[in-house]
Amino acid sequence: MVPETVVARTERRWVTLMAAMLVAMMTVIVGTGVVQALHPASNVETVDPTTLHLRGEFVESNLGTALEADGSATVRFIAEQYAFVPSCAIVPAGTPVKFRLTSADVVHGFLLPDTNVNTMVVPGFVSEVRTSFAKPGVYAMPCNEFCGLGHHGMWAHVRVVPKEQFKQSENGERTSCAEQ
Ligand code: CUA
Repeated sequence: MVPETVVARTERRWVTLMAAMLVAMMTVIVGTGVVQALHPASNVETVDPTTLHLRGEFVESNLGTALEADGSATVRFIAEQYAFVPSCAIVPAGTPVKFRLTSADVVHGFLLPDTNVNTMVVPGFVSEVRTSFAKPGVYAMPCNEFCGLGHHGMWAHVRVVPKEQFKQSENGERTSCAEQ
């Protein structure tokens, strides 16, 4: 028989260890939230995934980058098996950028490595992420949520160009990589 005092001491040690791990994990979550702006997606905005191509915000002519009146940029993508539409978006550097995505079929992922952008794209919901890019460059945009047999080939790109080089066509058309 193990004496009761030994059992109690062992249990106290394990409880202390568990509490320390919880504190460490909470510190990481709060720390990355404050320092790197890594936040869980929090907007609950619904959309009908069966009529995306027919009407509303995610019709094909509205996909890509749009400049807003306040100088910020809004980028809209549709994720579908196995591609993002459009396959490349251009955004200006040093500008607030808002990404809005939704899925036409299953759950996909939206990730821009080395940024605070990482969210799931769920059919029926709009995923919105805000960020800004300090310098020009090309960001790979892999789907990071297993979505089927073609998941590994589901990629797009975000190309960040100098602010003065970014131009929106006059007739309000969305900017895509093909046009610049
Ligand atoms: Cu889409 Cu994985």
